[in-house]
Amino acid sequence: MHALSAQVREAGKRIALVPTMGALHAGHLSLIDYARAQADFLVVSIFVNPLQFDRDADLDAYPRTWEADSALCAEHGADAIYAPTAPAMYPGGFATKVSVAGLGQGLCGEHRPGHFDGVTTVVAKLFGAVTPHLAVFGQKDYQQLKIITRMTADLDMGIEVIGRPTLREADGLAMSSRNVHLSADERAQALCLRRALDKAQELAQGGEREVQKIKSAAAQVVEGASLARLEYLEVVDADNLAPLTRLEGPARMAMAVWLGATRLIDNDALN
Ligand code: PAJ
Repeated sequence: MHALSAQVREAGKRIALVPTMGALHAGHLSLIDYARAQADFLVVSIFVNPLQFDRDADLDAYPRTWEADSALCAEHGADAIYAPTAPAMYPGGFATKVSVAGLGQGLCGEHRPGHFDGVTTVVAKLFGAVTPHLAVFGQKDYQQLKIITRMTADLDMGIEVIGRPTLREADGLAMSSRNVHLSADERAQALCLRRALDKAQELAQGGEREVQKIKSAAAQVVEGASLARLEYLEVVDADNLAPLTRLEGPARMAMAVWLGATRLIDNDALN
């Protein structure tokens, strides 16, 4: 990968990277299409990164759909797919961890120990191998996007990190590779995430500034879904992810909800 990228760079071309774990859906494809339009050479990486999974069952069950993924990458104009094996990424003796302090502590970081260190370590490696000029990520994983932006700046990687909006199913459920695990009943009740975000937005737009009131109204929506178990629901500063008590500047509401054995996340701006 590194040798190919060096050749492409030598030819004066601009490289874009879209990192993924495969099981590509329309959300991923929207990032790929955006990146395609920004660069001369488009790399999609597909790597189910064991370092970022905190539960073995989740890693084992993660959908792997190589045939469909590679066809979609070709259809959407990717010039290369970087799909290393786990032993190639993490050979014996591998000893480095990339860790961003602060931003990774709350929200998902509190409930998935080691997860974001796994993400930043693999993304630093992908950036090192692909040497992109720009890299495109989804706001669906808002905390991840903020952490990667910080890492890229802190380590002088010279890569432009771009965040793109969340693609949703027609009924509002955020697209996710994990949605395939939902039973029909769980799929129906998964709408409680979008509904909780809508409830919060409605209150904020109506002038409510007390975060506690917004959070409890949104939490009630989730609790009204009998199959849903709320892991966390938080309103944070959109920039530094610090929890807020009052809505003042740009804010983001983020949540994680379990439906049976499937963990879903969602977030949206709250102004
Ligand atoms: P993965 O979950 O495959 O997601 C790859 C990229 O697609 C991420 O930037 C994610 O935010 C984005 N994405 C997922 N669902 C989306 C949706 N509904 N709309 C728009 N974008 C969406 O995130 C990862 O993989 C990994 O942590 C990775 C960054 C590849 C590191 O292993």
